[in-house]
Amino acid sequence: MSLKNREILIGVSGGIAAYKTAALVSKLAQAEAAVSVVMTPAATKFVGTATFAALTGRPVATRTFSSRQYPLGAHIEIAQRADIFCVAPATANFISNVALGAADDLLSTLTLCCTCPILIAPAMNAAMWEKPAVQRNVQQIQADGIECIEPQEGWLSCRQVGTGRMVEADALFEIIQQRLAGPNH
Ligand SMILES: Cc1cc2nc3c(=O)[nH]c(=O)nc-3n(C[C@H](O)[C@H](O)[C@H](O)COP(=O)(O)O)c2cc1C
Repeated sequence: MSLKNREILIGVSGGIAAYKTAALVSKLAQAEAAVSVVMTPAATKFVGTATFAALTGRPVATRTFSSRQYPLGAHIEIAQRADIFCVAPATANFISNVALGAADDLLSTLTLCCTCPILIAPAMNAAMWEKPAVQRNVQQIQADGIECIEPQEGWLSCRQVGTGRMVEADALFEIIQQRLAGPNH
């Protein structure tokens, strides 16, 4: 299925796996998708906005109130045009915000405003992923209609082996393509 001119919104929260998201965004751009990236302030500690701005050819929004180019609010304008929204990596903190329906930063506010299908690709330390609170939050957001692409077992950047590795960029690309070809589109 062609991704040409499909509006794909990528959210990036603050985990090391953000470097994989740069590869995903590059693949989407090469497939001629129209890609927007929104980052949490913590995510910008891992990959700079300049990388995603260059890969997408679009500015990268990071804050609810800072952007002069979105008079209606970035959370509204960016959410409205998205055909699909994928948050990768999704941190424990982001998942917790979404489970609560919180809207205290741009990414969580945007998530509440999105009416398109939403996917998240969690990435975190294995002990974090196993915590009952995190699993409870994941179950809650799944029950609320958000698709969770389960993290995989393997080498984690905290130099441990366990479950918490974000799914690879190639796999995420295929999943986004499949969901856009699905019945909701
Ligand atoms: C080096 C480093 C790596 C981190 N990796 C992760 C991670 O993979 N997953 C996660 O949930 N939090 C991770 N964190 C913690 C988050 O960055 C932190 O909870 C932050 O507040 C998340 O903010 P955000 O959800 O607004 O992006 C990491 C922190 C540091 C310093």
